[in-house]
This record gives sequence, structure tokens and C-alpha cells, in this order.
Amino acid sequence: GDEELRRRIVAAKQALGERVVVLGHFYQRDEVIDHADVVGDSFQLARAATERTEAETIVFCGVHFMAETADVLSPGHQRVILPNLAAGCSMADMATIEDVEAAWSQLTELYAGQDADVDPEDTRLPVLPVTYMNSSAAIKAFCGHHGGIVCTSSNARSVLDWAFARARRVIFFPDQHLGRNTARAMGVPLEAMPVWNPREPLGGNDPQSLHDARVILWQGFCSVHKRFTVEQIDRARAEHPGVRIIVHPECSMEVVDAADESGSTDHITKAVAAAEPGTTFGIGTEINLVRRLAAQYPQHTIFCLDPVVCPCSTMYRIHPGYLAWVLERLVDGETVNQVQVPPEVQDGSRLALERMLACRA
Ligand code: 13P
Ligand code: SF4
Repeated sequence: GDEELRRRIVAAKQALGERVVVLGHFYQRDEVIDHADVVGDSFQLARAATERTEAETIVFCGVHFMAETADVLSPGHQRVILPNLAAGCSMADMATIEDVEAAWSQLTELYAGQDADVDPEDTRLPVLPVTYMNSSAAIKAFCGHHGGIVCTSSNARSVLDWAFARARRVIFFPDQHLGRNTARAMGVPLEAMPVWNPREPLGGNDPQSLHDARVILWQGFCSVHKRFTVEQIDRARAEHPGVRIIVHPECSMEVVDAADESGSTDHITKAVAAAEPGTTFGIGTEINLVRRLAAQYPQHTIFCLDPVVCPCSTMYRIHPGYLAWVLERLVDGETVNQVQVPPEVQDGSRLALERMLACRA
């Protein structure tokens, strides 16, 4: 039962002491979060991996790309364990390294011809790759090797500023919504944001629109955040006058526009924590976080905009039973479910991640 699992996890953690640090993403279920030494958004957990160097093992309660990032950023002696290796991210899977490389060679060839007339004073690159954290280590390495950078939802704007100081255009992987919402807030017109479909030549775009592009959006999306709609927001406003609507920037542009504000999971958490008692929040993000906030802040009224319960199914694959199992194996001196980024993509992905860490500072 649940109580039994809790006892096993507590006992194993106690036996391991400082040798292990458990990181938990905000979307994890409470029975997992209860055991996390650090809880945060994807940026904070990446930074925790660079800081918690005393532990020989990081147990990452999140999804695969986060565990890969922790492996890349942590010192060599540290191992990273993902309690269930089937905890992936469907958005990250929407950009494969083969498709990204094919897109890149088409674009660089196109721009080599088109940009021949650019002012020689303009030393910016024709295009720079930027990838959302929610992508494979291979794509982060691709960005690292091509002068590019990683972003998360909490620093996308400063990362895009960084990129535009170096390039005339950006190609943004894999979340079209975060890319569009961020670029639009910076004043980039929608016409300058073509979407790239890897199944079609030139991504399904004409050469002129790629020439005029500022941000080329990969066509990925998050199936959890795609569920939120403007109708839900309209209904929430009708039923709860004065409600404050906050959504994650993985939601569509229409939803972000209809909301009062948007931000990362950490932004949402802090906004709730800082609000006047008695505030009503309608939130557009993963249900485990929304429910936890509702329980933690009974002085507010907090509900999820989507009436149908919608957990991120892959985050949910980190069942406490897996956490107990990997910890108990560690007690016995055995490492299971280790995530190891292949050596050929370690350096490139570290470069792109370190540019991000430096950019935010
Ligand atoms: P955050 O960076 O806001 O934690 O988001 C990560 C994520 O996967 C959202 O779906
Ligand atoms: Fe991926 Fe969406 Fe789940 Fe985040 S919420 S891990 S983007 S599927």
C-alpha cells in the first residue's frame, strides 16, 4: 500500500544519507514530491544538478530530457537515475535529430544564396538554432555545435534576445507555442514566424517567407497544454468574476492572449504564493501542480481551467514504487535505470546548456 511505499522510500533515503539527492519536477505527484530534496521547474532543477555535487547519485523524478540534462551538467563522478525509463516527453519526441539536421542543411543552403546581398557590416549569422529544454541531448548538442543555445520557459525571452544579437533569424525547436508566444511578446510579427513541417520540402514554406522570417517555428507542441482553450477561460471568467487566469506558455497563442498572464511552473507557483488571501486563480497547466497549489494555499480558490483531469501521462510514470525500487537497489550497491548521455553528444549539449546558464545570469 501507499504507507508501505512511503516507509520504504524514507528508510532507503535514510540509509543513503548524503550519497543521494532526489530532484522533483513540479508536475510530479505528491507521493513523489514528498521525498524530493529539491522541487522546481526545469531550469531550477538543471541548476540544482550543477550545485548538488556532494551526492554521488541524482535520482531525477521528472522526464527523460531533464535527466539527460542533469547528466550533462553534473560532474563526471555523479550518476543520474530516472526511476522509470519510460518517462519521456511526447513534445521532445516531435523533433528528431535527423529531421533537425535535414532542416538545417536546407535552410543554410537557401540563406547562402539569399543573403548574398546583406550589408558586409552586418556580421550576424543568417540563422541560429535555439532549442527548448524539452528536447533530446542530441538536439542540444546540435545547437551547441552551431553557435546555438538552450532555453526554458522561464528564460526564453532573454535567450531569444541573446540569439538575435548574433543572428538575423532563429530556428526554434520543438515547441511552436513557446516560440511564438515569446517572439510575439518581443514584437516579432506573426508573418515573420513560419512553421516548419519536417515532412515537406522547405518545411512547407516558400523561399520568400523563409527569407523574411525572424523565427522559424518547429511544429511541435505539448499535448497536455494543447487541451486548454479560450472557451474554458471565458467560462471561468463568467463563473468566477475577478478570477486571475495564469497559463503556461506551452499553451496556444489564443489561450495566452486570453489569460491575464503566462509563465513557467515556477512563475505560476510564485504568483500564487505572493497573492492577497482570497484570490481566485484559474490555472492552465498540469493537474498535479494545480492540485498541490490548491492544497497548499487554502486561503485562495484555485482550480484547473480544464474540467477533465489531465495529468502529463509521462510525468505520471514516476510511480513511488519505482522510486522505492531504485533507492533500495542503491542501498544494495546497485545502480539501475541510469541515464547516460552518449559521449559524442556530451560536449555539444553542455556548451548549449552553459550558454543558457550564463545568459540568464
Ligand atoms: P517548466 O520549465 O515550466 O518547469 O516546464 C517544463 C515542462 O515540461 C512543461 O510542460
Ligand atoms: Fe512534455 Fe508536455 Fe509533459 Fe511537459 S507537460 S513533460 S512538455 S508532455
